[in-house]
Amino acid sequence: MKIGLSTGGGDCPGLNSVIRAIVRYASATLGHEVVGIEDSFNGLMVRPYKIRPLGLKDVSGILNRGGTILGTSNSGNPFKLKPGQDPKTCEKSQKVVEAYHELGLDCVIVIGGDGTQRIANQFIQLGLNIIGIPKTIDNDLINADFTTGFETAVEVASEAIIRLQSTAESHDRIMVLEVMGRHAGHIALHSGIASGAHVILLPEIPFNYNAILAKIEERRKLGHHYSVVVVAEGAHEEGQDKIYQVRPSGKRNLGGIGQVVADKLSEISGSDSRITVLGHIQRGGEPCPRDRILGTLYGVKAVDMALNGDFAKVVVMRAHKLQAVTYESISNGYRQLESNDMYLNAAEAIGVCVGR
Ligand code: F6P
Repeated sequence: MKIGLSTGGGDCPGLNSVIRAIVRYASATLGHEVVGIEDSFNGLMVRPYKIRPLGLKDVSGILNRGGTILGTSNSGNPFKLKPGQDPKTCEKSQKVVEAYHELGLDCVIVIGGDGTQRIANQFIQLGLNIIGIPKTIDNDLINADFTTGFETAVEVASEAIIRLQSTAESHDRIMVLEVMGRHAGHIALHSGIASGAHVILLPEIPFNYNAILAKIEERRKLGHHYSVVVVAEGAHEEGQDKIYQVRPSGKRNLGGIGQVVADKLSEISGSDSRITVLGHIQRGGEPCPRDRILGTLYGVKAVDMALNGDFAKVVVMRAHKLQAVTYESISNGYRQLESNDMYLNAAEAIGVCVGR
């Protein structure tokens, strides 16, 4: 077989672990051909193609390397149409289809988040054999318990919270840490539990300042004049919108809620506050062992699916089992925290304030 391989969307720790597993299993162990496509689908939209053969030597030493050796992109959707344009005549997507056939690919394994998998699904409709592997530090893919990159992001955020605890205590301050998580608060919740945050604010639960103030007061009565607040970038106050930053290009990104919360808590509690925005530090650097293991399992499963002709499916880890699910089953929205989420229940049970 000739298997194409690409990474798309925002990067995350563990992508190289997936690439390594696919190349080692498909090429070195089984003798199939693996072709790396650079910068997501962009590598097939240009001429000459941005591709390279991948063998054992190319993936040596990358298991614990951050980022992706293939490069990635979260712009340049090949299906973006001009007003009134028919998808079938969309030039960029046609270039990708043309490249797929010209290169004689039997399938493409697409490692990507929700946006990339949506694009992949559109290519499936155009006849391409595609297998998806989910990745995102946000861990918000429907039908998947764990996506590559999440565990590392939790480790990074957890360490940051532990570090903030001691400086918060020394200065009797409120320390606010803003972490990633657009639609779902998995990173905030898991790292907050792991490192003893006193308040965790989540996109799923619009927060109330009185509830947070009550927690700060309760701690003061116990003699603790400091608090650590973790806030997901997609969290917002009851009745208010999410906070965005507008880039020079005009593109809006979530960000800034941490500063808003820090200022308000300082005003209503009388304590000094500081804000730390963890940002892309959560996405860079070495993947933790769990992400390296998950990446390896995902890669091997995707190759097995390719050999069995089990296309148009996404590999997910659900209830500790690797499964192949349809694209339709992952494309409707995001996996948010449910009201009966066991991590959320445990956090509230031990007195963590989630802003309500
Ligand atoms: O989807 C993962 C994520 O890390 C989000 O939490 C964050 O909002 C976004 O990517 C930022 O992506 P970028 O800065 O690459 O556009």
